[in-house]
Amino acid sequence: MQGDAILTGQVLSFDADPFQAGPGAAVVHEAVALSGGRIAAVGSRADLRRAHPDAALHDHGQQLICAGFVDAHVHYPQTAIIASWGKRLIDWLNSYTFPEETKFADPAYAARITARYLDLTTANGTTTMCSFCTIHPASVEAFFAEAHRRGQRVVGGKTCMDRNAPEGLRDSAQSAYDDSKALLETWHGRGRISYAITPRFSPTSTPDQLAALGALWSEHPECLMQTHLSEQTDEIAWVKSLYPSARDYLDTYESHGLLGANGLYGHAIHLEPRERDRLRETGAALVHCPTSNTFIGSGLFDMAGLIAEGQRIGLATDTGGGSSFSMLRTMAAAYEIGQLRGTPLHPSQLIWLATAGSARALRMDDRIGSIAPGMEADLVVLDLASTPAIAQRSERAADLWEALFPTIMMGDDRAVTEVWIGGKKAHFKHQHNLISH
Ligand code: GUN
Ligand code: ZN
Repeated sequence: MQGDAILTGQVLSFDADPFQAGPGAAVVHEAVALSGGRIAAVGSRADLRRAHPDAALHDHGQQLICAGFVDAHVHYPQTAIIASWGKRLIDWLNSYTFPEETKFADPAYAARITARYLDLTTANGTTTMCSFCTIHPASVEAFFAEAHRRGQRVVGGKTCMDRNAPEGLRDSAQSAYDDSKALLETWHGRGRISYAITPRFSPTSTPDQLAALGALWSEHPECLMQTHLSEQTDEIAWVKSLYPSARDYLDTYESHGLLGANGLYGHAIHLEPRERDRLRETGAALVHCPTSNTFIGSGLFDMAGLIAEGQRIGLATDTGGGSSFSMLRTMAAAYEIGQLRGTPLHPSQLIWLATAGSARALRMDDRIGSIAPGMEADLVVLDLASTPAIAQRSERAADLWEALFPTIMMGDDRAVTEVWIGGKKAHFKHQHNLISH
């Protein structure tokens, strides 16, 4: 059992959402004290030392200490097919994704990829993720068991598909309901594990399956529901042909009980005005997956417009449609997409989206995503001079944001010097010792 700890550095916390309140919403403290897996206090080094005389001191100089990154939409089973060349969404699913997901019928394979995925993401500073698994219950068991062992707050769900997927990767309306329910009852609320009801997307579910999962959600409204929405134009045309009476893509979910405040809709790029209105009215969350949207060629998410109309938005890698495990790289891609739309995001907004914003999308912002007393102690320590290229830029910085921005744009796992999960220092291999500066 690890005792109390004090970490010193530049401890970044937010009093408010910087999209509403500007960069001044951020506050930097000298130190943070951890006790019993939670954040006990933030403040001056001297005050925290006095209040916690027995705590182990971890001095991080001028490194940035922020909440652990929260990745609001990933597919951990796609770890081994990340960066697969040359296809757009439907062909990419058929050529790379489905054959790989078929392998998760083997629990040993699921356990191996889970461990690999959690090692890679920890090294990149991600402490919580919301993951699709595969249709196999064993893929969910493997993910939850390993995250539970590591003490990580994660969300996951059995991906449900009963059509337009290959043999070996289809369930049925009834088995999707039964298997999801059994997993939910076993795992939801166990330690830090949460279950998300997970229809992959409308093209791979029959209306009967969507209705069955809508019924399950109405029986368990405390659970999140995650799916995909309006990622590519070809996909939207396909949805229209499969659901001829639907008003739009969102309506295929809405009319089957799959639109609600605990709903998470990945991508949400090509939205109709009615869809935007309904997403906002119901309090659903949209998840921006910027490296995926450029990698698979999907389109440019309207961050500024959606924020302005009051949508709740999280940020995500979408591994392995996304081309990175790193939330730093994901912030950089979100910045670049903002630039292409003429609305650059400020570094305070980027880091907020990767922490508190994604936590809010997952409805977990009362527990994770920020550094404040009572919050769970999931932290990442970032070296803002982790490579010579970054160091020579950040040493000229006039303020914290200018010091952080080169790490957002050019940083990778070498910037991640320490990760704390549930108040304990996580062990991971890092490569930043290869460079000296
Ligand atoms: N739409 C349905 N399934 C997927 C998936 O696995 N990845 C992405 N990016 N989009 C999807
Ligand atoms: Zn996805």
